[in-house]
Amino acid sequence: MTMIVFPMPGNEALGKNLAHDTGSQLGEVDVRRFPDGESYVRLLTPVHDRPVALVDTLAQPDSKILPLLFAAAAAKDLGATRVGLVAPYLAYMRQDRRFNPGEAVSSTHFGRLLSGWLDWLVTVDPHLHRHASLDEVYTIPNQVVQAAPQISEWIRKNVENPVLVGPDEESKQWVSRVAERAGAPYTVLHKIRHGDRDVEVSAPDVGRWRDHTPVLVDDIISTARTMIETIKGLQKLDLAAPVCIGVHAVFAGSAYEDLVAAGAAKIVTCNTIPHASNLIDLTEPIVEAAVSLAPSPTP
Ligand code: R5P
Repeated sequence: MTMIVFPMPGNEALGKNLAHDTGSQLGEVDVRRFPDGESYVRLLTPVHDRPVALVDTLAQPDSKILPLLFAAAAAKDLGATRVGLVAPYLAYMRQDRRFNPGEAVSSTHFGRLLSGWLDWLVTVDPHLHRHASLDEVYTIPNQVVQAAPQISEWIRKNVENPVLVGPDEESKQWVSRVAERAGAPYTVLHKIRHGDRDVEVSAPDVGRWRDHTPVLVDDIISTARTMIETIKGLQKLDLAAPVCIGVHAVFAGSAYEDLVAAGAAKIVTCNTIPHASNLIDLTEPIVEAAVSLAPSPTP
């Protein structure tokens, strides 16, 4: 039976493309809040005997997670055969260990929660640092889309004489992949995080790249402190104003404006979280990944 794609609020564009490109039906879901703040969810498209894909990027996840789980539960109650999730940004991946006694390891708990309600998952570059793969966190079949090919292509087309700069050791996995495909050199700096908004970045050996355009690449830009401290380091060494590329445009509070004010020459992100800086389109690989997990449509 033909799959039904339900875009959760704010995910209409990707939902529409996914439905169109997979030959699926675009479903309609009503999500709203009761006056007391509780969530109301109603699937307006019948799902009996049909596979379902929910589309919900999970930035600011706490307000989205219950409506998402209610939609998944309703689909199953109403007879959907399989219920998958396309979440281009997967939240809660950064708390991947107990840094202080008593802390919840939220990546694992969140993974267990979603795995209990869904049958498959597609996401883009989840923050894998201390977890080696998504399978350590999610017990359901999953596909991870890598943004590196599209980021490299954007750099090749838009940046002259680039040198890629990763702000910390964690970013090496993205920076090295992007650099290799872009045919550009790269360097990785050292970051010490003292708190949510207190970050120190050292840039010891980047002075030799003064005739290049620095391109900072990271998976998540949240408070933007990591990129801002990196820019300060590059400024001290008289490097050109950098292009800042993030896969996921989380941009907490005034982060985007702060990054502009710090001296970013340009800020570019992928369309995993809708934002004006989304110049890199990942729709095609996301659709391909969903097709590989979702049952093929039959008329
Ligand atoms: C590190 O854990 C991540 O790869 C990013 O460097 C980090 O999430 C960026 O966060 P912020 O923008 O708040 O410095």
